[in-house]
Amino acid sequence: KARVAILISGGGSNMSALLDDMADPDHPCEPALVLSNRADAGGLAKAAARGVATAVVDHRPHKGDRHAFEAELNEALAAARPDLICLAGFMRVLTPEFVAGHAGKMLNIHPSLLPLFPGLHTHARAIEAGCAVHGCTVHEVTGELDLGPILGQAVVPVLPGDDADALAARVLRQEHRLYPQALRRFAVGKREPFAILDQPA
Ligand code: GAR
Repeated sequence: KARVAILISGGGSNMSALLDDMADPDHPCEPALVLSNRADAGGLAKAAARGVATAVVDHRPHKGDRHAFEAELNEALAAARPDLICLAGFMRVLTPEFVAGHAGKMLNIHPSLLPLFPGLHTHARAIEAGCAVHGCTVHEVTGELDLGPILGQAVVPVLPGDDADALAARVLRQEHRLYPQALRRFAVGKREPFAILDQPA
């Protein structure tokens, strides 16, 4: 099985969806490590509760020195020997050098239909732009922020009266369906982008 490291910064609901899917004995992957840049990330306890090894690499002591932070990140990752790295709400920008060191092995989930709305505050921006649909994207991580080949996307409607929180919640439910499917496909070499267009309650 492919060993997967998951990088988080927060609640880890996408991480949980990935771990729960990997509990399937027929899954092509197994979890190797959950790593957070914040010691207070809620996802760490969820990973530990599922028996998955966890690590914290705090970015703050390396303020302004991304390369020093990433050297420590690489050290923690190397110990886990991952074949794949899933960014799941990991809120640090990674340098092109770090990304290049893991070329072809790193996935990210982003809460918009890329290439629309890279960066932050995606839900508010989709509402502000008057979009009728919004969604989420899993893509391969290459050099630039929120770019890289699209592996899968899930679409949700923007409904009258939506605020950013309501829309975010609708998207997040689809993130939890999209990311596990995208990881399974990527792990077995499927690179054609797929779409999730239905959205059951
Ligand atoms: C998710 O919505 C994810 O798409 C987003 O952060 C949230 C993390 O939630 N990621 C980004 O904004 C990346 N720039 P989670 O910790 O519950 O998975």
